[in-house]
Amino acid sequence: MDAKLSLLTRLQHLGTAPCDENTPVAPVGLPSIRTSTVRFNSIEDLEETYRRKSRGERLVTYGRMGMETHAALEDIFCQLEGGKRCFLASSGLGAITMAMLSLLSAGDHVLVADCVYGPVRHLDNTVLKRMNIASTYVSGSSIDALEKQVKENTKVLYAESPGSLLFEMLDIPALAAFAKKHGLILVIDNTWGSGYAYKPLELGADVSVIAGTKYVGGHSDLMLGAVVAKDKAIIAQIDLSQYAMGFSVSADDAWLAIRGVRTLPIRMEQHARNALQVCRYFDTLPETRQVFHPAFEKDPGHALWQRDCTGSNGMMSIELDLSDKQIRAFVNALQLFSIGYSWGGFESLIQWVDRPTLENHAYWNRQDSQIIRLHIGLEGVEDLIADLNQALLQARAVR
Ligand SMILES: Cc1ncc(COP(=O)(O)O)c(C=O)c1O
Repeated sequence: MDAKLSLLTRLQHLGTAPCDENTPVAPVGLPSIRTSTVRFNSIEDLEETYRRKSRGERLVTYGRMGMETHAALEDIFCQLEGGKRCFLASSGLGAITMAMLSLLSAGDHVLVADCVYGPVRHLDNTVLKRMNIASTYVSGSSIDALEKQVKENTKVLYAESPGSLLFEMLDIPALAAFAKKHGLILVIDNTWGSGYAYKPLELGADVSVIAGTKYVGGHSDLMLGAVVAKDKAIIAQIDLSQYAMGFSVSADDAWLAIRGVRTLPIRMEQHARNALQVCRYFDTLPETRQVFHPAFEKDPGHALWQRDCTGSNGMMSIELDLSDKQIRAFVNALQLFSIGYSWGGFESLIQWVDRPTLENHAYWNRQDSQIIRLHIGLEGVEDLIADLNQALLQARAVR
């Protein structure tokens, strides 16, 4: 598709089958092809397919490697991220694991920004450790701290921006310059931007990882991950490992993700508009110590957000001066926010962030207050604010 067309236009047309005779447009134009086996007409046909495949053509040979639906989704992720090749995984964490296991070998060391999604630590402390791959957690905002921890065997710098829980904005161009200086591969978890609000590969990262489970799917009904890269040698490294490890995605989930992506821009913009209004509401409350949402003017990362992002989303955290009992009362009294871990779907969610997890982040330097993380959904924002307000009145009454 013509790369000069705007991303908005491309997202409406990618993955639609060419119109031969009365080809359906809705919902994707491509059927969700559920199959394990692909049949060949003759031995010569099979041989020719493999010959063309070895020259880099994306041809279907077996279900695990994906059908046309998967190829269309891979193309969409490449267009979103500005990458050359995408590898799908069955979840966001699967995509993170694929990237790490593809790019690291026994005896290597990985530097990890301390603001990353929690289960990355589990991966590092279990599977990578068992494979003799060491990891060191460092503030992703401090090039000095990274300089102190880089070793001869460091191969990868893994980060997430904005970071999980407090949405710490990292300076990706500065991290890319640091990675280049030391010959490291820079991998960024870009689930927050989902290829629409933020473009790590264009800012200098080598690999971008997205949990398609969140904004790409957008309807809280699928699990999906993607690894997108631009450099030939890195792509070859991931290709080998992905094939070896047998990552594969259900055709139905790939199909749902394509349907989701048609409305990704419009949904993210509405989530972002709603979230900003909720930030402003919290900012007026005497209990609020800090609002964490990079698109909000008072967020410490706002200048970096203005420089590097093209949009925002519905994620925010609020530091509140409330007791444990009051937080429980507040969260339990909400009618429109469900208590849940995920985000990126249509619905509003809330999570009481546990302190030990926060204390892993150098960005967090307080002891005595509470953090709640909110995902602001697509509901009417006035209803969400009224709900937050009634719950707060109930919490204030608790002693
Ligand atoms: C930033 C981030 N990356 C990756 C993931 C993992 O995605 P999944 O739940 O699809 O494994 C999550 C999940 O919450 C996340 O928040």
